[in-house]
Formats: sequence, structure tokens, C-alpha cells
Amino acid sequence: MRFSLVTFCILVVVTKETIAEISSGVFTIHTEGCTIPGFPGVSESIKSIMDAPPAIRNCTSSRQLVTTNSTHIWVLREAFYSYDVFREDTFYCCYKNFSAVGNIENIVYSDCEEFSNVIPAKHEFVHIECFHLDGVIFRDFFIFNRHETVTPNRFRSEEYNILVLGIESMSRLNFHRTMPHTSEFLKQKGVIELLGYNKVGDNSYPNLFPVLTGLSFDYVKQSCVHGSVMNNDQCKFIWDKFKDKGYNTALGSDSTAGLLGNYEYSLPSIPTDFYLQPFIFETRKLFTNQNYSYHSCKGSKYFYRLLLDYIYSLTQNLKSNKLFGMFWEESISHENVNNPRIMDESYYKLLSNLDQDGYLNKTILILLSDHGMRWGRIVLTKQGRLEERLPLLAILLPEEFKSRYKLAYKNIENNVNRLTSPYDIYESLLDLMDPDRLEDNVIGSRSKSASVSRSSLFLPIPAIRNCSSIGVAEHWCACRGGVNIKVGSKAKTFVANKLVAQINKLLMGYSQCHKLILKNIYDVHLVENDQKLRVYTARVKTKPGGGIYDGTVIQDGTHWVISGTVSRLNLYRNQSYCVNNAAIKMYCYCV
Ligand SMILES: *[C@@H]1O[C@H](CO)[C@@H](O)[C@H](O)[C@H]1NC(C)=O
Ligand SMILES: *[C@@H]1O[C@H](CO)[C@@H](O)[C@H](O)[C@H]1NC(C)=O
Ligand SMILES: *[C@@H]1O[C@H](CO)[C@@H](O)[C@H](O)[C@H]1NC(C)=O
Ligand SMILES: *[C@@H]1O[C@H](CO)[C@@H](O)[C@H](O)[C@H]1NC(C)=O
Ligand SMILES: *[C@@H]1O[C@H](CO)[C@@H](O)[C@H](O)[C@H]1NC(C)=O
Ligand SMILES: *[C@@H]1O[C@H](CO)[C@@H](O)[C@H](O)[C@H]1NC(C)=O
Ligand SMILES: *[C@@H]1O[C@H](CO)[C@@H](O)[C@H](O)[C@H]1NC(C)=O
Repeated sequence: MRFSLVTFCILVVVTKETIAEISSGVFTIHTEGCTIPGFPGVSESIKSIMDAPPAIRNCTSSRQLVTTNSTHIWVLREAFYSYDVFREDTFYCCYKNFSAVGNIENIVYSDCEEFSNVIPAKHEFVHIECFHLDGVIFRDFFIFNRHETVTPNRFRSEEYNILVLGIESMSRLNFHRTMPHTSEFLKQKGVIELLGYNKVGDNSYPNLFPVLTGLSFDYVKQSCVHGSVMNNDQCKFIWDKFKDKGYNTALGSDSTAGLLGNYEYSLPSIPTDFYLQPFIFETRKLFTNQNYSYHSCKGSKYFYRLLLDYIYSLTQNLKSNKLFGMFWEESISHENVNNPRIMDESYYKLLSNLDQDGYLNKTILILLSDHGMRWGRIVLTKQGRLEERLPLLAILLPEEFKSRYKLAYKNIENNVNRLTSPYDIYESLLDLMDPDRLEDNVIGSRSKSASVSRSSLFLPIPAIRNCSSIGVAEHWCACRGGVNIKVGSKAKTFVANKLVAQINKLLMGYSQCHKLILKNIYDVHLVENDQKLRVYTARVKTKPGGGIYDGTVIQDGTHWVISGTVSRLNLYRNQSYCVNNAAIKMYCYCV
């Protein structure tokens, strides 16, 4: 009893302090279990990086032979000259619809419907090829708003659409810096931004699988991926669960690498009612380098715009049907920290259109990312290192939700200043699927047995949460309180060598990879020093290959261990062509 009283007092004090210090920017969050230093949107250390222009070109297509509006496809006869079409009697185009049958590996095309002037667009995914003197002179892929399989379903008044919009490699602060119009719009609408949202692993997969399945990616790979095919009966995706509840489901990305790309596994069947990926996968045929995953333009159109149009058309077609949709932008934000600037107006427009349509009044909108930028100059700065660990998570709830589920709403507002993880998003989605769980009296009783390790964001998340209680390795943990003790040069070299030795250990069994040697030490910091453990972060360069690595090394008495993954801060490009294992590629310099 006395103990809980003491805890209560501490909580109150911490909360008061939190508000004062967060507003002064000293801390991002400051709780009993986790203190995350604060940064302004643009600190001195990243100013020159953020001043650089986006590294992305405008999409242009000088050579267009065919064009479309929302209902038809027609030939631009004025382009004949530039296509050397001098015998019109041998010119024709071929219209084919296509779709993935069974699974995405199996794309099937219809027979050719010939035309040489204009043709109505009757299908969602269309391929056009034009011929002259029997040779192909033009090809393109088009997408039309012709979603055929709408399952009629009805909202219960307490149910909402769920719209999850992922933006790859986007930290919370980078979202504000690069997409100010969108972020201002959301702020006006009363968006809830989770300041202590901490990633749990290095790249997309370990951070997304907890959101999609409530399971770790390691577990999924071990237990549910058989011969590189994922068994989604064993590890059920969140959209399958929404489907069981009668929702229409949709999934899409603007890149083959995005959400559920074909990277480490494939899906045995078409995952959702509406699925953009067969189209995106086929468009690879337009490019010489079909393996590159981040093509930004299809002709004169950005791929991300294609994705946003797809999302909007779904909301139009499914106006009175409930929808769970998950979408992932990748082609712009993956490659450069300034690139998202070009998307700001389009995202703003999409969201304000959804607002004007009244769609947001019955929709839970979740904007999120998997992690911040993982390479380039920005991750070499303190701010960039922290931002890599703190992805965007912003949730917009309809006014009606706020008044219907008062306690749940109050809880999520408080959780803004708590340490949270992707597993919490999954738990929250389960609540939204089953809104009875959000009723005040139910929230009240569930709160009594709230778990420290993972929790719906609609329950009170305990302030004592720390990285170890939610399973986040020290290396990925943003709770550092700003403690950063420089260490002496001897200890520095010692720790740096421990890190390199650990990388070489990972490379054992890969004789095609060079053994790495320490070339440069950027810095080593002691970030935790209690009686039992010492935690160091170290940043080094190795040779050959010039890889820059960032690792967290823990000294437990005489034992030294690496926490989490060792991050690679610069690109390895083709240095690792001789290995396929994604976890090893980061370290391998081929002999
Ligand atoms: C892209 O096009 C816009 C509008 O035409 C123009 O303002 C901008 O300078 C162009 N950007 C580049 C990189 O060419
Ligand atoms: C699209 O273009 C076709 C052919 O030019 C035309 O007949 C049709 O009315 C246009 N549709 C719309 C919606 O503008
Ligand atoms: C093409 O569309 C027709 C309906 O117009 C449909 O019956 C057929 O299955 C489609 N073919 C493919 C490969 O999607
Ligand atoms: C693309 O990937 C495939 C399969 O991994 C490989 O065989 C092919 O050589 C690659 N092509 C290019 C251009 O890199
Ligand atoms: C959406 O909800 C707001 C606030 O509840 C209301 O003012 C607005 O009229 C609604 N919009 C539509 C299009 O229903
Ligand atoms: C994390 O919190 C748990 C209690 O939830 C506590 O036992 C543990 O010592 C804490 N770890 C650190 C590193 O503070
Ligand atoms: C790797 O890329 C470089 C330059 O991009 C090229 O010169 C080299 O031949 C490539 N090596 C391999 C093994 O593909």
C-alpha cells in the first residue's frame, strides 16, 4: 500500500515536469522509465543537410503515343511523326486487361483487343502496346477506377473505416520539416502524435511485422515462412482479421519493395479484396533495370501519385462500405531525407479531399513510418541518430469517436508522452476492430490489468515502461536522457575493436567476404553506467570497403555483447553482390 502511494506521487511529479520541459524542448518525453532528449525541427547539426534540395527529378515523358482520361484511351496522332509512323495501315495498338490469378507471381493477360484510334477503358489494370510494321514501338500500363469486387457491408454506427498511410523512412520531425502543409492540416484537425514511438528493429520488416501480425519478424520467418512462402493462416495478418469482421480490405504500395514486396518471402494468395501490387509489379517491364525498387516516375506521373489516386478512388467507390486499407509510400522517401518535400501538397490535397467528402468523419486515419532515415549524412549527427529510432506515428480520430469513447480518447491523449512500440499499434487495431472493447466501462476494467510490455494505445500506458520492458534492444532505444560521457582513448579503441570483432563473427561461414579491420573511430560514448552494466555506443569505419557502422556494446562484468543489430550508416551498393542473406549484406565486402 505504502509502495503504491509512493509510486503515485512520483507519477504526479513526473507528469508536471513533463509538460514544462517538453514545451521548452529539452525532452521529447520524460517519464519514470524513459527520457528522450528533445531536438528542434532543424538543429544546427542538420541545417546544411536539410537545406539541400530534394534529389528527385520532375517526371516528364517526351515520347507519349497514347493518352487517357478517366474513361477512354486514345492514340495521339500528332505523335506519329516522332515515332516514325509513316505507314498508318500497319499501325495498331493492343488493349489487354490483366490481373493476378491466385497469387502475385501469376499475372494473366487477356487476349488483345485491337484499336488504332480510341477505345473505352473497361478494366482496372490495362496494358497497351502499339505496333508499326509488326514491331513494338510503344508500351504502357494504365490504371482505372473500375474496382469490381465490392462486398456490400454495413457500418454499425460505432464502427469506423481504418485508413493506414505509411510513409517509408520518415521520422516524426522529418515529417514536420518536409511536409509542413500536411502536418499543419492534421494539427488543425486535432491529430494525436505519439512522441515516444520507438522502432524495434533495423529496417522495414522487423518494424512492420509487429504492426501487421502482432508478432516479431524473426518469429514469422521461423514459424510461418516455409520455403520462402508465407503461411498467413499460421501468422494471420491484421487485414485478414478485419475481413473476418466484414470489412472490405485493401493493400497497396508505390514500389515493389514496399509493404509485402517480394523480398524475403511471398504470399500464397491475393491478400486483400483490393490489391494494387499486381499493377506495380507489371510496370517493372517499362524499365531497363527491373530490379531497382525505387523508380519514382511512370512516364509523366510519379508512382506515389498513382498510389494516392488509388486510395482516393477506393474511398469514393466504397463510400457506404466499411474499409480497412493499408498503403505504403516508398518510391520518394526511401532514397533521400529531403525528397518528401515534393509530396507535401499531394498528401495535403488527399487528406483535405477526404475531409471535405466527410470521409474522415467515419474514419480512423493513421499515418506512420517504420523508422527514420537510416543512412547518409543525417545519421552521423546526434539528432539523426535519434530520429532514425523515432518514426512518425500520428492518429486522427473523428469528433464522434472522441465523444463516444471518452476514456479511450483520454488515454490515447496521455500516451502521447509514453514510450510506445509497433506492437501497441497492433493492439490498438484489435480494439478498433471490436469497438465494444472501447466502451468506458470496459476500458475501466481492462485498465486494471494493463500490461507493461504491450498495450493498446486506448489503455493507460504505464510511465515505468522502459526499453527492456517492451523488448527494444539498447541499440534501438531512444531513451538516453542525453547522457553521453566521452571515454578515454584506450577504452575507445578497446570498444571499437569489440564492435569490429563482433561484425567479423557474423561473417564467419562466409568465406566470400573479407575480414574487416578497424580503420577509423568516429566516436565512442558511455551512455549507461549502473553498478551492473556499462552501455557504450560506437561509430567506426572499417576496411576494405569503407563501411560505416554504428553499434551498441554492453559490458556485463567481463562479458561483452552487442545489443540488437549493428547498423550500417552508408550504402553498400554492390559491395555485397556475393551474398544473398539480407542480414549479412550490410557487412560483407566481397573478396
Ligand atoms: C518541376 O516542375 C515544377 C513545376 O513545373 C517546377 O517549378 C520545378 O522547378 C521543377 N523541378 C525540377 C527539379 O525540374
Ligand atoms: C474521355 O475521352 C473520350 C474520347 O475523347 C470522350 O468521348 C469522353 O467523353 C471523355 N470522358 C471524360 C469523362 O471526359
Ligand atoms: C479481362 O476482363 C474480362 C471481363 O471484361 C474478364 O472476364 C477476364 O477475366 C479479364 N482477364 C484477366 C486476365 O484479368
Ligand atoms: C535481377 O535479379 C535477378 C534475380 O535475382 C538476377 O538474376 C538478375 O541478374 C538481376 N538483374 C540485374 C540487371 O541486376
Ligand atoms: C463532419 O463532422 C464535423 C464535426 O462533427 C461536422 O461539422 C461536419 O459537418 C461533418 N462533415 C460532413 C461532410 O458530414
Ligand atoms: C525497466 O523496467 C523494469 C520494471 O518494469 C525494471 O525492473 C528494470 O530494471 C528497468 N530497466 C532499466 C534498464 O532501467
Ligand atoms: C560495382 O559497381 C561499380 C560501379 O558502380 C562497377 O565498376 C563494378 O564493376 C561493380 N562490381 C560488380 C561486381 O558488379
